[in-house]
Amino acid sequence: MRRIPAVLTVLAFSAPFSPEGQAIPIARAPAAVRPFIQRADAAFTRIRSAHLTELAGTMRANGAAGAIGVCHLSSAAVMDRIRREEQIAVGWTSDRLRNPTSTPPAWAAPIVRQKAGARAASVSGFYVDLGDRVGVLRPMPEVALCAGCHGPADKLSPGVRAVLKDRYPADRAINFKDGEIRGWLWAEIWKVERRRQVYLLPCELDRARNPPEDRLVLPELLVW
Ligand code: HEC
Repeated sequence: MRRIPAVLTVLAFSAPFSPEGQAIPIARAPAAVRPFIQRADAAFTRIRSAHLTELAGTMRANGAAGAIGVCHLSSAAVMDRIRREEQIAVGWTSDRLRNPTSTPPAWAAPIVRQKAGARAASVSGFYVDLGDRVGVLRPMPEVALCAGCHGPADKLSPGVRAVLKDRYPADRAINFKDGEIRGWLWAEIWKVERRRQVYLLPCELDRARNPPEDRLVLPELLVW
């Protein structure tokens, strides 16, 4: 049977979101907002799992000093894929940055500042109504695995200290305590899903208009 799925998902919001720009704890999110938080959480799960797998592997093989050179490369690649494939702006940040380019987006900055030094377990996360998008922010705890590169300064190995001095001269991302918020994952989810425009060759256009039976065809629609 031939099915033409909806190309543009338009979500209707029955319940008001929240006053625009105001950070609301995720636990208080109304039903209309939860699908956006779920999408952000799915992206965060992919990033966290790439991050932890990468860290565990490289630290085991090379120790912290050896791992620091490649550290976070695969999590950065996953973030890049999420941005391109899912049209989700996503990133990580902190109140004490190692890489100065990881500054929080303006909507997240006050929360990051306000929760500096808090226990990660006491903060589940926040959402912010950004008008056409929903911003979602979840804390990342400092755990034992992070200590070799973000822990107490006197516990960092000379090798790690040398790499930090060389590559991150303005590094502030040390002295985090176990269980403290080390940083945050943030995402901006469009309220109306966006699709990239796909240019079809004439033969592909013909196939899209007259699809063979039993083939699922997704006609692409330009929405930006
Ligand atoms: C092997 C060393 C190493 C370990 C272990 C490590 N990190 Fe990092 N971390 C880095 C480096 C290097 C950067 C800067 C990466 C870049 O240039 O973007 C960084 C950056 C970050 C950032 C981005 C914000 C910033 O400060 O630039 C977060 C968040 C972060 N790390 C969290 C963690 C957490 C949570 C753990 C433990 C689960 C961890 N890291 C373990 C080396 C490490």
